Amino acid sequence: MSQIYAAFKSIGAYVPEKILSNEELEKMVDTTDEWIVKRTGIKERHIASKDEATSDMATKASELAIERSGLDKDSIDLVLCATVTPDYFNMPSTACLVSDKLGIKNVQAFDISAACSGFVYLLSVAKAFIESGMKKNVLIIGAEKFSSIVDYTDRSTCILFGDGAGAAIISATTNKSEAFVDVHASADGSYADFLVTPAPGSVNPVSQKVVDEGLQYVQMKGNETFKLAVKTLTKDVKEILADNDIKSEDIPHFIPHQANYRIIKAVGDALKMTKEQVVVTVEKYGNTSAASIPMAINDIWESGRLQNGELMLLDTFGGGLTWASALLPFAGKAK
Ligand code: UT7
Repeated sequence: MSQIYAAFKSIGAYVPEKILSNEELEKMVDTTDEWIVKRTGIKERHIASKDEATSDMATKASELAIERSGLDKDSIDLVLCATVTPDYFNMPSTACLVSDKLGIKNVQAFDISAACSGFVYLLSVAKAFIESGMKKNVLIIGAEKFSSIVDYTDRSTCILFGDGAGAAIISATTNKSEAFVDVHASADGSYADFLVTPAPGSVNPVSQKVVDEGLQYVQMKGNETFKLAVKTLTKDVKEILADNDIKSEDIPHFIPHQANYRIIKAVGDALKMTKEQVVVTVEKYGNTSAASIPMAINDIWESGRLQNGELMLLDTFGGGLTWASALLPFAGKAK
């Protein structure tokens, strides 16, 4: 029997209509457009409406990914959603809700929690399910309504995050030229307090104290996270390239997690990447956590920059702390 590989067949994304600009944030907290652009590269971010849940954005991104894959939705046998802002914090999972909204019946569906690294983590999960022969067509989603856990009186976090969703179809193939080259994923829980949403959860169940102290909001040790992100992302990319005997100049599309332009620039420079190689979307979406990488892939696909067979290098870092990188060709149809 011939070897089965995982192939990245299509991409889709969704961004909510409402834009929150730096100028609007100037009216909400003690900040300036100049500070935000200089320190982060972010000019605006999209914010979901009150009645728009994470699963709604995920469903819209998934519909596009399914349509662009040319697959019948009923041939999807696994739905995976990476999110830290699920519709419901305990149950049901957002993946279950998305499967229902897509009308996919009798499918295995579950969420994973790996913060900004979630989408790349899912590539490793999809790869394992496919290569083991357990599943054939996997819908993977990174979706966040980050605005639901942001304190819009905290200038150190509220300027950074945005909402959105991205989705991809990963399918089984026997064509080795379509196969994922490699995925690395790792974590170090000793840095758990760098990025944390203290409630709700078993440590801090909902209580008056939670609300009074604002423990339901994301907290970040920004500067410490920044320094570790640059170091870890650079090391991770160097390792995955070396392990696979690929040079950075051979990568047409380096798609890093979009948290801060200064992080992206530092990592790109350390790898001697040109401006043309590095995909940057942070100025218009901010940090959308698990949605950031698939939204960026969708951007280059929709602009006609991503061609069939071209190699993508993904690299991400986030709460946990978690980090991951992936090397894989785009195995779908160009726009
Ligand atoms: O997605 C997961 C991974 N996340 C990240 O990778 C995020 C990493 N962190 C960052 O992107 C940056 O650390 C931030 C953008 C969050 C902050 O930039 P920074 O250059 O690390 O600034 P800082 O935290 O060291 O703060 C410098 C100054 C402080 O004032 P003092 O103490 O020097 O007087 C802050 O109070 O900037 C002040 N500051 C602000 N000023 C205006 C912090 N936030 C703001 C703000 N507007 N929004």
